[in-house]
Amino acid sequence: MDLVRDVRLGARLAVMRGGGRVLALAGDPVLRLLYRPWIDDPHAIHRQLREGPQPFASRGGVMVVATAAACEQVVRDRRYGVRTRAGGTPGGAVDGTRDPLLEPVDLSVLGLDPPEHTRLRRLVAPVFTPARVAAREDLAVRMAARLVDRAVRLGRFDLVSAVAVPLPVAIIADILGVPDADADAFAHWGRAVGAGLGGVRSLRALHRLERAVVELRALMSGLLDRRRAGRSEGDGDVLDRLAAEDVSDDEAVSLAVLLLLGGFETTSGLIGNAVAAMLDTGEPWQQLVDDPAAGAPAVVEETLRYDPPVQFTARVPHVEVELGDRTIAPDTTVLAMLGAAGRDPAVHTDPDTFDPTRTTAAEHLAFSGGIHYCLGASLARLEGRVALTELATRMPRLRRLPGAERRRSLLLSEFSRLPLDAGR
Ligand code: HEM
Repeated sequence: MDLVRDVRLGARLAVMRGGGRVLALAGDPVLRLLYRPWIDDPHAIHRQLREGPQPFASRGGVMVVATAAACEQVVRDRRYGVRTRAGGTPGGAVDGTRDPLLEPVDLSVLGLDPPEHTRLRRLVAPVFTPARVAAREDLAVRMAARLVDRAVRLGRFDLVSAVAVPLPVAIIADILGVPDADADAFAHWGRAVGAGLGGVRSLRALHRLERAVVELRALMSGLLDRRRAGRSEGDGDVLDRLAAEDVSDDEAVSLAVLLLLGGFETTSGLIGNAVAAMLDTGEPWQQLVDDPAAGAPAVVEETLRYDPPVQFTARVPHVEVELGDRTIAPDTTVLAMLGAAGRDPAVHTDPDTFDPTRTTAAEHLAFSGGIHYCLGASLARLEGRVALTELATRMPRLRRLPGAERRRSLLLSEFSRLPLDAGR
């Protein structure tokens, strides 16, 4: 590790943490989303943001939109990008470099504007079309059935480690072409990287993250080399496409890392959030048990509206834009609170109630919108539906146990532990 860099970053972190906390205490709702106790009830802050002016100018230096209409406008407007005009991290250093505290991992297309975004996304998009995804349904059902059967035998189990993580890991490893033998390491590194995605808050966390990224990149680049040398035959999976096309090593590895992270960090959150919301509400679980085939897709959409795993995204206008009654200067960071948008009463009646039978459930922004619309949306929906169907079929008397832990960050809303009783 570079000591000079670390001292500089450590000092910046201390200032950011201290300054942020002071502003949070002074009442800035956006900064409150970073700290306890406020972060434990983000919905109250989301409501405050929705009911106020759009955008809200946070004293932390960002603009924030939280209504469904304003969030949709920001993510769809092509005058905004995900990098500053100089090519840097929004809110980071002005010299156009990637800021290690705000953007600790190179997230490929997610952090690229056109034309690079268009070129790389086009390369892998064919693997994630609804038809190609549907072809993996059998594998998903087999995997989910095996995992849920094992959990039934255990009786008491943690949903996250027993089902919600291993299912999407197995599927994305298969899509990427990562052999079984590497899948465990893959999940371990993915978790380590995923934990730091919302921006790191300590030097230790940054080091842990950087180590995991180095190891993950080594795994991916080894697999790519084997493909290029023709020593391993895939079936047209992602690594094959990346090995065959004119893509630099760095680009290929970053894209593979993003697909891994996107592929399970978020979907595991969807499965956990859905089960918790159903069991806490009661009736939705019984409805799912009575008719899993009809119920599961509706539960998936309602969970994405009510408690989406990804809570916000950021954009920066590349030109001066009007937003609400404000004029926003180029390179100003604008946060779109996707989680808050899902509970906008202008779109959803009684938005704080979890109700899979509502007709507006699918009108959410959990997968964002515009050119960065989630590439894995069909896959996430399939995995969510399959996991919930298997659970409801094999554990009709499922109930919660004490000891759940929620990982709350500004970016992610998901359980890190969700103890359950299979109710045999
Ligand atoms: C419930 C599960 C998921 C949620 C909530 C989710 C959410 C999101 C969101 C909000 C974005 C866009 C961020 C922005 O606009 O800046 C995104 C992009 C992306 N997601 Fe997902 N995602 C999920 C599952 C997946 C899966 C299974 C994959 C699979 C491989 C995936 C791959 C991607 C990729 C590659 C992008 C970048 C697209 C681009 O920049 O063009 N996601 N996701």
